[in-house]
Amino acid sequence: MCAIMFKTCKFILVLAALTGCCVHALENGLARTPPMGWLAWVRFTCDVDCARSPEECINESLFKSMAKHLVTDGYRALGYEYVNIDDCWSEKHRSAANGERLEADKARFPHGIKPLAEYIHSLDLKLGLYGDCGTATCAGYPAQLKYADKLEDNYYELDSKTLVDWHVDSFKLDGCYIEPLKAQQICPKFSDVLLKTTKQAHNNTKPIYLMCEWPFYINRHHAPKASTSGLVDYQLVQDKCNAWRYYEDVEDSWQSVLNVIDFSTNIQDTILNFHKPGAWFDPDQLVIGNFGLSVSQARAQMAIWCAWSAPLYMSNDLRKLDPQMAAILKNERLIEVDQDPFGLWALVMKKVWDIQAFVKPVMPMRHNCTSFVVVYLNRESLGNGKFVTMKLKDLLLPTLEKTRDQIRERANELKVPFDYDGCLERLQRGLSSANALKYRVEDLYDDTLIDGVVTKELTLHVNPSDVRVVKLTEIE
Ligand code: GLA
Repeated sequence: MCAIMFKTCKFILVLAALTGCCVHALENGLARTPPMGWLAWVRFTCDVDCARSPEECINESLFKSMAKHLVTDGYRALGYEYVNIDDCWSEKHRSAANGERLEADKARFPHGIKPLAEYIHSLDLKLGLYGDCGTATCAGYPAQLKYADKLEDNYYELDSKTLVDWHVDSFKLDGCYIEPLKAQQICPKFSDVLLKTTKQAHNNTKPIYLMCEWPFYINRHHAPKASTSGLVDYQLVQDKCNAWRYYEDVEDSWQSVLNVIDFSTNIQDTILNFHKPGAWFDPDQLVIGNFGLSVSQARAQMAIWCAWSAPLYMSNDLRKLDPQMAAILKNERLIEVDQDPFGLWALVMKKVWDIQAFVKPVMPMRHNCTSFVVVYLNRESLGNGKFVTMKLKDLLLPTLEKTRDQIRERANELKVPFDYDGCLERLQRGLSSANALKYRVEDLYDDTLIDGVVTKELTLHVNPSDVRVVKLTEIE
């Protein structure tokens, strides 16, 4: 293919080298590390009855107060910057009187979206809005397509202009009310139109971060087999979206979190290939701090999402957050793992009893080789905690082998020296001979738990429905 289109390919490669960026990614420069913020859906769903639940309905004051808490409770300083409105924010119908433009519900958002965006910006935060590239949003509100059978008849341009006019920073494009494979044809057009509109705008040249949902609906109806990408064209998705959902909605329960973990693990090779700066698989919101997860389960969700370099969107009531849950969400060492510049997806490398080990290479480099984060997830729901021992050569070596191309690509972009062959040899030798490599072990939840240096094995005590998460950095 490249041979036939030699000139074009060469041009793209030169362009990629010049911009230091990637051939496949939405060209808006956003989300070089996974986005962080707050999103309304899991906690507040589509409660529009403000007479009955004035504090908990989808309205202007809900988003203002979450924004204030992001600042005053220290989340913004840690990187949580998006305040995302989800479904049910608009009037129920478009009106011909204003040229069919989208309008916020007049009673619940009396000032409209633009002043809300301005308020959010005044707090140095960003505003996200929600829509759908089908004929209605999932909750039945106006969306971006006019008729299901006429893909070319849509509001993509009009609505993109509206988003730009309102100074919206991010948009979640759902995929209800459109046949999933048709969505794969038409939803990318929205992305093109949005990108073009932001580029042409005079008063606001900021690009808009785009989150897409059509891959999830394709996977729902045409489940991919383990380790295949199924019918989703992830190359296309990568080109058109900054992040995308690929699996069912997370709910406020441990079982739901486990379902996300299992589906993701099943397709982890595909995810590893396409998950990268500017283009992220989104396993959905952090449900920490609601009604369904225990403290241990909350620790587990946070650790795994961070090991995955996943978008971190909390969906909870920041006004009523339990301090233990808040501490989990504010764990700086885990956030650093999430935001690690390599942006790799942690792979499940081994299972002992019902304990899975997730491993991801991270910064810093030692001897031109990466450090590693390891999570032990104990899926048992019976008995006491257990000591589990796994051999480092079973965890680190295969992870390095599987992630070779991704680390090379990122190291290149980041201008970090990485010597794959040397690193592989070092690990092969150092993890099996008497002349062992020494790793400093840092527990990312509690540094009083470990004082360690490990050589060949990692032994950790893990409670049921809980994790231990450590960072291994070679001692020079
Ligand atoms: C879908 C999405 C959810 C949420 C709802 C809103 O189910 O996957 O994240 O946006 O729609 O109706």
